[in-house]
Amino acid sequence: MELLYEEAGQPGFGLPSALATAYGGDLGFTTPCLYANFVTSIDGVVALGPEYPSSGSAISGREPADRFVMGLLRACADAVLIGAGTLRATPRHLWTPEHVCPQAAPDFTKLRRSLRRTTQPHLTVVTASGDVPTDHPALQSGALVATTADGARRLEGRLPPTCAMLTVVEGSTLRMADVLAALQAQGDTAVLTEGGPHLIGSLLQEGLLDELFLTTSPVLAGRADTPRPGLISGLELLPNQPAWTDLISARRRNSHLFLRYRLRTPRGRPSPAN
Ligand SMILES: NC(=O)c1ccc[n+]([C@@H]2O[C@H](COP(=O)([O-])OP(=O)(O)OC[C@H]3O[C@@H](n4cnc5c(N)ncnc54)[C@H](OP(=O)(O)O)[C@@H]3O)[C@@H](O)[C@H]2O)c1
Repeated sequence: MELLYEEAGQPGFGLPSALATAYGGDLGFTTPCLYANFVTSIDGVVALGPEYPSSGSAISGREPADRFVMGLLRACADAVLIGAGTLRATPRHLWTPEHVCPQAAPDFTKLRRSLRRTTQPHLTVVTASGDVPTDHPALQSGALVATTADGARRLEGRLPPTCAMLTVVEGSTLRMADVLAALQAQGDTAVLTEGGPHLIGSLLQEGLLDELFLTTSPVLAGRADTPRPGLISGLELLPNQPAWTDLISARRRNSHLFLRYRLRTPRGRPSPAN
């Protein structure tokens, strides 16, 4: 990847040399940190609609550099946080670094060892309804399912033994600050979210997102009669509550752009004591 711009003074983990060469430099985070990774079309579409599973791949064109960045960001994370909509829409996916970029697996492992991370990032799935496909391979491999009291009742006895359940509220939605506090309490301070749009809306509403990695794929997706969401659903920000960002870095691989932004809005960072 070609580095086009990087803000001075960024933290660096000291990536293994093969990863640093492929990424076009070092990468790091100061923790606690919640960072998101998304791919979007030029016209702002991140999902093609319910009839198209795994639409992120269609939007990125399965660009190898995008898959490498997904893998690298997962390899840096203690935990990966997703909404149930993304789990339901991606039937065979595993949210591990090597699932998206197997050729870099040995270097991802080396990086995780140097960061003293667990072998794989912990997957956390957020669901209000408890309507999750319990035979999904990502749940079979082990995950934390954060849900409401209603969702917990629906899931009672249905989750594979590899999964744990976290019930954080009575009510129809979860406070994401509570979910992040639970993750922090188990030592997960570098958290990657891969959305989707409703979960990003929830996180932004609570002022919890620190950074956004956005791949702009050189494709026009269009919109007809079906809803095709952009990065955020269920939350309106402009004109009254704009969430401005600063560009931290920009990379390029052919016509794909890899942008890293920092959210300017102050955050309500949860404390592990809560
Ligand atoms: N382009 C990309 O990079 C990218 C990335 C991720 C996803 N996607 C796409 O986005 C689409 C899915 O969109 P989406 O907005 O439905 O996905 P989502 O945000 O992953 O899932 C939404 C669901 O997550 C749960 N949820 C979110 N916030 C919650 C809260 N505060 N409390 C309780 N539950 C909460 C709810 O689950 P329940 O309905 O179970 O209550 C909600 O319906 C898929 O097509 C996927 O492929 C694209």
